[in-house]
Amino acid sequence: MRTALFSFLVLLGSCATHESHEATLKSVLADKFHIGTALNSWHIAGRDSMAHEVITRHFDAIVAENCMKSMYLQPREGEFRFREADAFVRFGEEHHMHVTGHCLIWHSQLPHWFLTDDEGNDVSPEVLRQRMKSHISTVVGRYKGRIKGWDVVNEAIMEDGSYRRSKFYEILGEEFIPLAFQYAHEADPDAELYYNDYNMYFPGKREAVCRLVGELKARGLRIDAVGMQGHVDMRHPSLEEFEASINAFTDAGVKVMITEFDMSALPSPWQSANLSDTLSYEQRMNPYTDGLPEAVDAEWNERMMQYFQLFLAHADDITRVTLWGVTDATSWKNDFPVRGRTDYPLLFDRHYQPKAVVQQLINTAR
Ligand code: XIL
Repeated sequence: MRTALFSFLVLLGSCATHESHEATLKSVLADKFHIGTALNSWHIAGRDSMAHEVITRHFDAIVAENCMKSMYLQPREGEFRFREADAFVRFGEEHHMHVTGHCLIWHSQLPHWFLTDDEGNDVSPEVLRQRMKSHISTVVGRYKGRIKGWDVVNEAIMEDGSYRRSKFYEILGEEFIPLAFQYAHEADPDAELYYNDYNMYFPGKREAVCRLVGELKARGLRIDAVGMQGHVDMRHPSLEEFEASINAFTDAGVKVMITEFDMSALPSPWQSANLSDTLSYEQRMNPYTDGLPEAVDAEWNERMMQYFQLFLAHADDITRVTLWGVTDATSWKNDFPVRGRTDYPLLFDRHYQPKAVVQQLINTAR
């Protein structure tokens, strides 16, 4: 009897270990939405084996943090460099992941030649249209059938709802957006197409993006989802503001993707201007170089969980939630919007360990 009981307990123990081994973010979220992460060059090159373990264990969707931006894909006109992007797409295929292409038309990380002629003057609308078309059809065409969806246009609208005064806008006017969607669709009719932006909780921006979705649809152009980047911090935006935008985009007739989620644990420079003492300013802006105090860590985990609860509540409309990076160590937030800080924005810490919220999320979703 004692041996039977002992064997039973051992079996129970191994089941429990087995189960906690199996319960991963992607397994418990499988029937809710894709859970993704952004891969940097080291991840793609296979030079970060610990990160590789986290990526393949917990995530079923990937996006490239940098290598598919136009300055890397086409540094000079007609000179395409696909090595890293090819490896990135292969990675996704090998691990059966939802692969997002980021991004086709963006004012940033854009090579200079794109907008200027040999004398350095702005190109004509005809030339810009031709360059956009050539870039989009070459890139989208190369990965036809292998990339699930594209961030076609990134960050074209301002918080007040006006168009960003980018060169694309100055040269082509509002038309550059439908053109980009048209070119992308022509290059891969089966690919999903997204409009992607940050600070989507501003009412002006929210309304303008809804109008844009309506206009694209009215012209018969394909748009599948609005990507809400979601670079949030400990105070902004409120869950209510964020949710209002999820609802608005859903009502506009598209799916929602949370495309670049992270939550800075640090004070935001936008909220504290005009500090005369630079040293104390710098210390105040980078307060946790030796680790996150327990209370702040608890607050961070709680707010992160609240965000995921919001995403789960809208799982019918949200098709993917992607974190902008794998661990805190390599997050872009360590250098943005202030360089050289120690931030704590992601689900895995500097030692590749899951934060408390990961287990909590697994328990809740299960
Ligand atoms: C960031 C990358 O994370 C950084 O490595 C790079 O230096 C700058 O771009 N919005 C976007 C992303 O759409 O492409 C940006 O990624 C972050 C803000």
